[in-house]
Amino acid sequence: MNNKDSFDLPSLNEARKRIGDIPYVDFNLDDDCRNLGKGKTYFIKTHGCQANQRDSETMAGILDSIGFRANDSEKGADVIIINTCAVRQGAEDKVYGEIGALKRLKRENPDIIIAIAGCMAQEEKTIREISAKYPQVDLVFGTHNITNLPKLLNNIYHERKRLIEVFSNMGEIVENVPVTRFAKHKAWVNIMYGCDKFCTYCIVPYTRGKERSRLMEDVLAEIKVLKEEGYKEVCLLGQNVNAYGNDLKLGYSFGDLLEEAARIGIERIRFVTSHPWNFDDRMIEAMRDNPNIMPYLHLPLQSGNTEILRRMNRRYSAEEYLELFKKLKETLPHYAFTTDIIVGFPNESDEAFEDTLKMVDYCQYDNAYTFIYSPREGTPAAKMEDNVPMAVKEERLQRLNEKITFYANKANQKFKDQIVEVLVDGISKRNGQAYSGYTPENKLVNFTGNDVKVGEIVKVRITEAKSFSLDGVMVE
Ligand code: SAH
Ligand code: SF4
Ligand code: F3S
Repeated sequence: MNNKDSFDLPSLNEARKRIGDIPYVDFNLDDDCRNLGKGKTYFIKTHGCQANQRDSETMAGILDSIGFRANDSEKGADVIIINTCAVRQGAEDKVYGEIGALKRLKRENPDIIIAIAGCMAQEEKTIREISAKYPQVDLVFGTHNITNLPKLLNNIYHERKRLIEVFSNMGEIVENVPVTRFAKHKAWVNIMYGCDKFCTYCIVPYTRGKERSRLMEDVLAEIKVLKEEGYKEVCLLGQNVNAYGNDLKLGYSFGDLLEEAARIGIERIRFVTSHPWNFDDRMIEAMRDNPNIMPYLHLPLQSGNTEILRRMNRRYSAEEYLELFKKLKETLPHYAFTTDIIVGFPNESDEAFEDTLKMVDYCQYDNAYTFIYSPREGTPAAKMEDNVPMAVKEERLQRLNEKITFYANKANQKFKDQIVEVLVDGISKRNGQAYSGYTPENKLVNFTGNDVKVGEIVKVRITEAKSFSLDGVMVE
């Protein structure tokens, strides 16, 4: 511990433990924090997955509720929060670059508060590093400490010294927390937090804690309100959404939640991520029978080789994955499928990698997120010898990506000259004259049209199918 700062280091070892019941509590704001942000602004930079995006919306909601206003960049903001991701080393390196760049702002205005939040905050090595090398950071708070943000800021404004609050093992569920959603037509809805799968390469079970589900009535109430507010789409969030409810032991499962959510009648329901190990017929039936559950499934493979899967602790063999995939394809023929794949896991031989390519040839995914294995300190895989040379990892990634692109293109050609429904997100990032949005199958469409309104579902005729997007013209 650094003697300048007073704090306890978080502990990944502690975070591994799965102890205690989950308290369900309501958000509570101390009276002396109510006007803390009056006349002040904030900026939040978000890295990582949808869970982090949703957490940033919570931070924004909390800050808005105590008088802060959002600023549109770091420059000029009184509070700057970097919401970090620890899933791969590359994600962490980016954050250190950003913290470094903030040094100048802090020098120009020592009154600003620079805060580090998110998954990196849960790692002791991050705290050590920040403590030793980044004096410009005023506050570090963990993924279990978000609802304490007003108290933490209040403390810094009074004491004017660096504060670090990271609970390694907490995991209460706080309801009725303020939220400022960044979009007005589609919303993230947490259905569960944490992960108990402990894939050997993955840091998430340590940074996010024990798997814990929100009560079904709370989730459904949130979706009802979103529908009333005019939202067209909800995306149900969890690291393994299909383990939903297992911890509650109230007799309902993810399939039941999907069925009930669909009944609310919101136009589009999505969910991420489902783990191949937790599929059941109830869930598949709910997907088959409800047209407002979008025909898109992200089914992470990670590797096509059974021995590597075993060393990854993925809980399925290549054959079991294939069996599930076939069953899903048969029951849900109109679905688009995407996946995640890691190359270069310890001991991945050429033959093992070929098994992954074979699986891709069989499944012909609509798209895939592909990664080079990145050892995460504190995980079991980090103790295995990282014995695939970087040049080999890079070559494998490239071969894999070529295959993925080929099948992505093939899948998209099916949409050429078709009319698809697009939920409009806004002006296209690629072409300022065009709009963009997603089809039910989660295909990105860039299109032109007159009087296009953000947040509406419009019909678009596809004129060109590219590998990772479709071009089109609005027809109505
Ligand atoms: N809960 C989700 C994924 C969370 S992380 C799920 O199980 O699908 C997103 C993806 O990052 C993972 O699917 C995996 O492919 C990749 N990933 C996780 N840890 C990694 C590591 N140490 N190195 C490389 N890729 C990793
Ligand atoms: Fe990580 Fe595995 Fe949990 Fe996904 S299921 S978050 S890959 S441990
Ligand atoms: Fe990254 Fe944490 Fe999400 S490690 S992927 S932000 S759960």
